[in-house]
Amino acid sequence: MVQDGGFFVGGRWTNPRDRKRLETVNPATGEVIATFPQGTKEDVAAAVKAAKAAFEKWKRMPPPRRGEFLLEAARIFRRRKEELGRIVTMEMGKVIAEGRGDVQEAIDFYEYASGEGRRFMGYTVPSELPNKICFSIRLPVGPVGLITPWNFPIAIPGWKSGAALIAGCTVVLKPSSLTPLCGAKFAEVLEEAGLPPGVFNFVVGPGSTAGNALIRHPDIRAVSFTGGVDTGREVYKAAAERMIKAGLELGGKNPILVMDDADLDLLMDGVMFGAFGTAGQRCTATSRLIVHRAVYEDLLDRLLKRTAKLKVGDPLDAKTDMGPVASADQEKKTLEYVGIGKKEGDKLLIGGGKLRGGAYDRGFFVEPTIFEVKSEKRLAMEEIFGPVLSVIKVKDYGEAVAVANSVEYGLSSSIYTNDVRRAFAAMQDLEAGITYINAPTIGAEVQMPFGGVKSTGPTDTREAGFTALDEFTSVKTVYVDYSGRLQRAQIDTEKLVRE
Ligand code: UN1
Repeated sequence: MVQDGGFFVGGRWTNPRDRKRLETVNPATGEVIATFPQGTKEDVAAAVKAAKAAFEKWKRMPPPRRGEFLLEAARIFRRRKEELGRIVTMEMGKVIAEGRGDVQEAIDFYEYASGEGRRFMGYTVPSELPNKICFSIRLPVGPVGLITPWNFPIAIPGWKSGAALIAGCTVVLKPSSLTPLCGAKFAEVLEEAGLPPGVFNFVVGPGSTAGNALIRHPDIRAVSFTGGVDTGREVYKAAAERMIKAGLELGGKNPILVMDDADLDLLMDGVMFGAFGTAGQRCTATSRLIVHRAVYEDLLDRLLKRTAKLKVGDPLDAKTDMGPVASADQEKKTLEYVGIGKKEGDKLLIGGGKLRGGAYDRGFFVEPTIFEVKSEKRLAMEEIFGPVLSVIKVKDYGEAVAVANSVEYGLSSSIYTNDVRRAFAAMQDLEAGITYINAPTIGAEVQMPFGGVKSTGPTDTREAGFTALDEFTSVKTVYVDYSGRLQRAQIDTEKLVRE
């Protein structure tokens, strides 16, 4: 049955009938699972108006009270985990264990963020003058716009809204047009959690119209975007023009460095999960394997054997290792990169094609693919966002780091080694927001900062962890002088020193 979706604005669901409709498709079957009205500039304006109207009251609610709403939402997410996990899988194609994990990540962060309501920390330090104290507090920036991707259609709205809401901001969420149904389910949970009307609003629509209207709306005080670099640049520019905050999380080309002392059995499990989990469609996906020449041949042999065993198919079947890619566009882009690799003379080691026959013909199934690549080639430099891994041979640790750092991105990174000195050197040397030791590039936990450097994170914002609050709060410094006279900093201080 095709579901009939709408917007959630000011605490009410609406479903305007005079808009063009958007269809959301199951990438494993090609079936339409829901339709939504395509939001216009006016729809976005209505959502922002509701967020603005709700802001003053929400801002003044003590953060621990705001936390109670988040905890209640986490309980509802937990109760509905299976249902929502299946919708994630049906709407974007990740395997069901990962669909559940997507929901779990929102549960985890909402629970974490609710506790943040009882910390919400500033800091207190001594003054240079007597009878005076200095401390800082955090204040919410105002209504915020959240633009979220399709690859973590519950988790990422969870990270962004959890932080914004506990901070005291009100929210307009616009999810990717590939996953509006997940967005609508997310809104349902917050509705059921009893958030005051207008605190959380949800609209659907194309980035070029609805997304654009959201980031340019004069009442939006911060925008948080996860997606590709090109769109991220536009978001950043629009935010700069309006002089508002921008939180940007823009993709990666994440390497695993394999040293000559690496545990190759452990590595194989890590590479399969890192490169082909979520069909390679994570910002954190392992897309480069940078391998010390001493273990290169052995590693390739094991890698191809393991990859050949991966089971690609129905993502709802618990035995499937990899589902379809998320859309026809994703399939096209992945296959285009296979073509680029072949054209540039990269050696295709396995995969490289669209899977055909039977159920495969209805969906967007691509083979797990591995190329042997030189570090300066396009396959080794550009984000593909599909199940394509580039293997690069290097002579030593120094070259491995140079290759790892040669791309414009810097989200996640990893090194497999048993040499503790190498491991600690890599923590410093790798240009990335995240470094894993003896684990793949994916699998971040919500209590730690998440984000990147270079083109991945030009505003250096971090989601998750308590750093998530920085995106949505301004720091206010407070000086309390209880001396009863004018004390001049920098000037009277000198007198004090002499006395
Ligand atoms: C993303 O790909 O945008 O660390 C987020 C991970 C997940 C989150 C990925 N917990 O792979």
